[in-house]
Amino acid sequence: MIVVLIGYMASGKSTIGRILAKKLSYNFIDLDDYIEVTEKKSINDIFKAYGEIYFRKKETHYLNEIFANKNNTVLALGGGTPCYGNNMETVLKSEHVTSIYLKATIDCIVKRLETEKDKRPLISHLSSRSELSEFIGKHLFERVQFYSKADYTIDTNNKNKSEIIEKIILDLF
Ligand code: S3P
Repeated sequence: MIVVLIGYMASGKSTIGRILAKKLSYNFIDLDDYIEVTEKKSINDIFKAYGEIYFRKKETHYLNEIFANKNNTVLALGGGTPCYGNNMETVLKSEHVTSIYLKATIDCIVKRLETEKDKRPLISHLSSRSELSEFIGKHLFERVQFYSKADYTIDTNNKNKSEIIEKIILDLF
């Protein structure tokens, strides 16, 4: 099985994914890291050099590559992965894939992204907290329609990491 973690930037996909993989004795792949290693460029540099459309094509390509070649893996997608091309359909139609949406509140995302926005090209230009908050509110509203198609949704609000992982394992098995 491939367990796919879906959610907005800074919703905990990579942190939770790493712990979950260890607990299940699965491999862990972070799609952004996979792209950076295979393309030998940071996500920031890919956006700068070739633009977002190029990045989205690579994202789709590597998502399909992982689905075709890996098993017993926890895969953390990028925040935008489910929202482009046929990616979400691919996630839902692949028989060996189970998807989990880590749902976080706008407030929690804003707080986390305030200190982590530099490596995220879509938001690195936003300087004040209110700009960030307005952008994320609108962006999340557009994206929720994709995220909420996941097989399971976990409300991460008021849950610590172990509680989130416990809930995922309950849903999976
Ligand atoms: C993006 C999210 C990022 C990364 C890229 C674009 C997005 O991944 O793929 O900067 O469109 O939301 P994280 O969700 O891991 O930050």
